[in-house]
Amino acid sequence: MVKVWLLALMILYNGFSLTVFGIHNSTRPEFVNIGALFSFNTSVGKIIKIAIEAAVEDVNSDPNILGETKLKLSLQEDSKYRGFLSIAEVLQVMARHNVAIIGPHSSVTAHVITHIANELQVPLLSFSALDPTLSSLQFPFFIRTCHSDLFQMAAIADLVDYYGWKEVIAVYIDDDNGRNGIVALGDKLAERRCRISYKAPVSPEATPEEITNVLVQVALAESRIIVVHANTLWGPKVFSVARNLGMMGTGYVWIATAFLSAILDISGPLSSDKMDEIQGVLTPRMYTPDSELKRRFVLKWKNLTRGNTADGPLGLSFLSLYAYDTIYALAHALDAFFKQGNKITFTNDSKLLSLHGDTLNLEALNVFNEGNTLRKNIYGVNMTGVTGLFKYAPDGNLVNPAYEIINVIGSGSRRIGYWSNQSGLSAVPPETIHSKPGNGFRESKKLLPVIWPGDIDQKPRGWVFPNNGRLLRIGVPISVSYRQFVSQVPGTDTFQGFCIDVFLSAVNLLPYAVPYKFIPYGDGKNNPSCTELVRLITTGVSIMSIVFCGVWMFLMVIL
Ligand SMILES: *[C@@H]1O[C@H](CO)[C@@H](O)[C@H](O)[C@H]1NC(C)=O
Ligand SMILES: *[C@@H]1O[C@H](CO)[C@@H](O)[C@H](O)[C@H]1NC(C)=O
Ligand SMILES: *[C@@H]1O[C@H](CO)[C@@H](O)[C@H](O)[C@H]1NC(C)=O
Ligand SMILES: *[C@@H]1O[C@H](CO)[C@@H](O)[C@H](O)[C@H]1NC(C)=O
Ligand SMILES: *[C@@H]1O[C@H](CO)[C@@H](O)[C@H](O)[C@H]1NC(C)=O
Ligand SMILES: *[C@@H]1O[C@H](CO)[C@@H](O)[C@H](O)[C@H]1NC(C)=O
Repeated sequence: MVKVWLLALMILYNGFSLTVFGIHNSTRPEFVNIGALFSFNTSVGKIIKIAIEAAVEDVNSDPNILGETKLKLSLQEDSKYRGFLSIAEVLQVMARHNVAIIGPHSSVTAHVITHIANELQVPLLSFSALDPTLSSLQFPFFIRTCHSDLFQMAAIADLVDYYGWKEVIAVYIDDDNGRNGIVALGDKLAERRCRISYKAPVSPEATPEEITNVLVQVALAESRIIVVHANTLWGPKVFSVARNLGMMGTGYVWIATAFLSAILDISGPLSSDKMDEIQGVLTPRMYTPDSELKRRFVLKWKNLTRGNTADGPLGLSFLSLYAYDTIYALAHALDAFFKQGNKITFTNDSKLLSLHGDTLNLEALNVFNEGNTLRKNIYGVNMTGVTGLFKYAPDGNLVNPAYEIINVIGSGSRRIGYWSNQSGLSAVPPETIHSKPGNGFRESKKLLPVIWPGDIDQKPRGWVFPNNGRLLRIGVPISVSYRQFVSQVPGTDTFQGFCIDVFLSAVNLLPYAVPYKFIPYGDGKNNPSCTELVRLITTGVSIMSIVFCGVWMFLMVIL
């Protein structure tokens, strides 16, 4: 008898127990409405739908999470990256008294609808809108349940720095997500004394001809390191065009943001034609540590997608993992919310009603009064999910951002290393480094060899002499004396001598191109006057010049 009472007390103590005895704690509703806003008709949308529905089912069948309360999910189509229609769609979701909305799909939509979420105090939980500028400071009700692109840009900047390149070209979709991602890349490169030398925006609706025009300009520029920041719909078109232009060959380096690894994960194996277009490309893939939970989910995923192969394979990607954990995180936050004795109530938004938008049916939109409390509970979640530890750092980012670096080779891809926010690039998984600090750390910094475009294993130098750039003009004195230092090769317009050798060696060591032109100076009969040459330069004869002046070898760069 005593044991039974002890057991009952223990259950009570665990907090979810009142329902065990059939006494409904009145703060716990039977259902909680949640909405999901995605482009379900895309391949990414399909896997998100499968993952979200599986998670809702699993949460609802586990009384340890929300007791007898069930999540009631309603799906709303998000019209593929279009601004205004998204507003209409989100208003429909909001009118259903959802306590939270999973989504939206894209950062472009997120920028548009976060204002509505803020007004109605309904948290948006998005694991696919990764634009770094969607910050929790400006948009408190936008909660990112995945890692911001800020971290993948840091990973790409570290890669560029690791290989010793200095300048990259950015090819990106000219929308909020593209522009803001590239600004973040520029900041991260600058921290490593590298930079974006040329920005090549492409319209979100670009035709192959327009992409061709943009890439032709890229080919004329000096850098051969090209970063492509796009989405799964648009990104592959760039590579098709690039291949047709011969830009997937030797000398080029292509780094695609995580959209490419997502395509490989979701739709792979791709046709050999499609694979030919992306040979040698590097792409980060969001990294989640191996765990028993994750292995079980991988098996479950195979079961869940077995019937879906008619539209092509639906492989497991970071999106499915984070979608699944997002529902669990929301469920844990709701549990904490109810344990604190909160109720879910909605009231009319007096500000909206004062607009008298009768025909717009604005009174259907209500403010979620306890929205801010739920929001705080989401940021307080501390759980282990299929993606690993799911917890927010004080700055509103999920802890432990990490990526694998993938090299596309042959019919598949190969992991050449990892990147994590704590330890940067490494050959071994981040948790291995963190578990034994200092132990072989230096050696683990080396990445595995890469097969670059053109099927070469030599690291490309990353630049060519541009066809459109300015030349560095070098005044070469035609001296009569000291000819071993510099002299014109008789009968040609080339030069030789110690100074020329030193100059050429130095130019070849630079990690970027310095196109140059030697300009002879002097009549060849008398030693030319250095002061006269310097005067010519400083009075603006040339914009960028180096002067070799006899034995004294004046080196002068005027920018
Ligand atoms: C989904 O996409 C297919 C092909 O892309 C199209 O035929 C179909 O009409 C779309 N369905 C909806 C509901 O948008
Ligand atoms: C997969 O499906 C089979 C048959 O439907 C079932 O027996 C098995 O337990 C499932 N596995 C997982 C991991 O869900
Ligand atoms: C429901 O539970 C909460 C916390 O567990 C408690 O504060 C509240 O008084 C309970 N309400 C009822 C009606 O039992
Ligand atoms: C909001 O206002 C409308 C019209 O004034 C009213 O019909 C509706 O019941 C109100 N809803 C709530 C939740 O107060
Ligand atoms: C998170 O949970 C783990 C284990 O469940 C616990 O050890 C840790 O203290 C918790 N952290 C916080 C900040 O609550
Ligand atoms: C990432 O690293 C920076 C610098 O070490 C640190 O300030 C920041 O809090 C880290 N962010 C996360 C989410 O771990």
